[in-house]
Amino acid sequence: MSQADLMSLKQVHKQFPGGYVALQDLNLTVQSGQFVALLGPSGCGKSTVLRLLAGLEQASQGQVNAPALRAGARGTETAYVFQEPTLMPWASVFDNVWLPLRLQGLSRSQAAPAVRQVLASVGLSEFEQALPRELSGGMKMRTSIARALVTQPEVLLMDEPFAALDEITRQRLNRDVLSWWQERRMAALFVTHSVYEAVFLSQRVLVMGARPGRITASMEIAEPYPRTPAFRSSPAYARCCEALSAALESAHGQEAQP
Ligand SMILES: Nc1ncnc2c1ncn2[C@@H]1O[C@H](COP(=O)(O)OP(=O)(O)OP(=O)(O)O)[C@@H](O)[C@H]1O
Ligand SMILES: [Mg+2]
Repeated sequence: MSQADLMSLKQVHKQFPGGYVALQDLNLTVQSGQFVALLGPSGCGKSTVLRLLAGLEQASQGQVNAPALRAGARGTETAYVFQEPTLMPWASVFDNVWLPLRLQGLSRSQAAPAVRQVLASVGLSEFEQALPRELSGGMKMRTSIARALVTQPEVLLMDEPFAALDEITRQRLNRDVLSWWQERRMAALFVTHSVYEAVFLSQRVLVMGARPGRITASMEIAEPYPRTPAFRSSPAYARCCEALSAALESAHGQEAQP
């Protein structure tokens, strides 16, 4: 691992108890502060990669290096945002975001400055007393992301966080994710099925193929930040999307037939 590599998987093999080989000879590295997208067909092992990096799953063979697995890890180095916002339905927005700090032993008043700061940054200051059922889908996802950001993680793992949202909300949250990422300088690994979302967000996109799950292509998106809505209509964006679609199609094509 070089100095700047924050996380890596080396020759990782993951076989589930029933014998299914989900990942084979998988290599990837994410550097400190880098934004990387993981793109690939359903079932290719994207969530499994995130779970390995979060320490929620163990590799059958190979090396996994990640802040969550280092000696002395406090458990707050890594934050995980799931596809569903997974909020506590009986608790207010404030209490949902307080949860990870509460688990660290911080009282409501000790946690309040950090909770309020992160709620302001995701645009939910006025909703801190609202219950999840009173929020739109996009607001629920903002709450879930606020809960992930409140511990100031080094790594933000996001598993298709916007798949269930309408296109406009999704694009707005894409822009917001980039501004939170730039403010906080954390590394981000973002799972998506969308070529367009991967290109808009990332510095690098890793394409995965299935059966067995492995990385089939890696593409740099060497376009500057901040990425504004104008980037989506630029020729550079169109070129990147086209190249990435071709890489994804070829990943589908290389799949072994069952
Ligand atoms: N606990 C488990 N036991 C057995 N097989 C599993 C388990 N978890 C995942 N798998 C299998 O491993 C493969 C990869 O699963 P994973 O959830 O990582 O895929 P994915 O790329 O995230 O898919 P999707 O895009 O649909 O979310 C799938 O074929 C799945 O059935
Ligand atoms: Mg998944």
